[in-house]
Amino acid sequence: MTTILVCDTCRYSQTEKLNGDQTGGEILADLVEKAAPTGISVKRHSCLMGCDHHCNIAIRAKGKLTYVLGRFEPNAESAAAITEFATGFDASQTGRVPFREWPQGVKGHFVSRVPPIEDDD
Ligand code: FES
Repeated sequence: MTTILVCDTCRYSQTEKLNGDQTGGEILADLVEKAAPTGISVKRHSCLMGCDHHCNIAIRAKGKLTYVLGRFEPNAESAAAITEFATGFDASQTGRVPFREWPQGVKGHFVSRVPPIEDDD
């Protein structure tokens, strides 16, 4: 199963930790949970160690590449782009989504891509 991990402790913006009583990560997690289609799991995780940039997420599935993305605004447009990319990731064999299929809202947000664990790792 494809999982979107959303850091729920990420700041709201470069200058503000909270918006009201919520972190940016909590706001984005709420929105991603609402936007995620059936079959895509959403989990919250406190800190993905990308704290210099706000609103970090990771997309992973067993046997596939793992992508880490960040610098998202905690809004519905970001949540839509994240879930659209995760849907393409879910449909692919390896996790690699062709560039022409990337939603505009994920472009410029990639932080790293990690290969899957192999049997001899
Ligand atoms: S608080 Fe979100 S990556 Fe550290």
